[in-house]
Amino acid sequence: MTGRFVTFEGLDGAGKTTQVRAVAEALGARGIEVAITREPGGTRLGERLRAILLGDERIIPDAELLLLFAARADHLRTRIRPALGRGMWVLCDRFTDASYAYQGGGRGIPAERISVLESWVQRELRPDLTIFLDLPVEVSLARISGGLFRETRDRFEREHLEFFERVRAAYLERCRRRPDRYRVIDAGLDAPEVTRSILEALQTEREPEPPAGRPRPARA
Ligand code: TYD
Repeated sequence: MTGRFVTFEGLDGAGKTTQVRAVAEALGARGIEVAITREPGGTRLGERLRAILLGDERIIPDAELLLLFAARADHLRTRIRPALGRGMWVLCDRFTDASYAYQGGGRGIPAERISVLESWVQRELRPDLTIFLDLPVEVSLARISGGLFRETRDRFEREHLEFFERVRAAYLERCRRRPDRYRVIDAGLDAPEVTRSILEALQTEREPEPPAGRPRPARA
């Protein structure tokens, strides 16, 4: 695999989707081939599972986790691995760190169980870099409520403050443990400033060794 796998994480309302697009545009302007995708989703099956996961169904935590990994297995096989194999940069709006944060931190599923599924479904594949767009929980909640009625929020957005505090704590703990793989970026900054910080992080990321006999791909 010669491409780069970059994932974007954050609490709801952190601006991930906007940033993924802005970063893709900036990389595209530098001649880098970029694929944008998201989780849950990114494939036909994944998007159908997303509708169930975000809908009004009552779903127990283990079933929620397994549905997320079912979607992920399909996504990896049909989109992510093929794109990386073609040398593209894959920018993914949420990935397995969200399972550790929401299903682990938020719902209380032990990380060891999530790790079993991660190894099974992903084998050796992990993101090259994960951007965590950090935001205090109160700000995130204010952004997602933003004038909307509670009923229009999805299953996760209807959770309470303590749930999101646990989600954020789980994300920050993962970032703290692996500073080489994660970058924490203040999502409270202006959107263009956040984009600049992400592009900088992509440039300073420790590069994996290129395969023998191959030159390094051009840097962003
Ligand atoms: P997101 O795409 O951020 O929602 P939106 O379209 O509202 O910006 O993600 C949908 C929700 O899915 C989000 O609240 C977090 C949740 N989620 C998990 O709980 N675990 C996971 O592994 C993933 C990928 C998402």
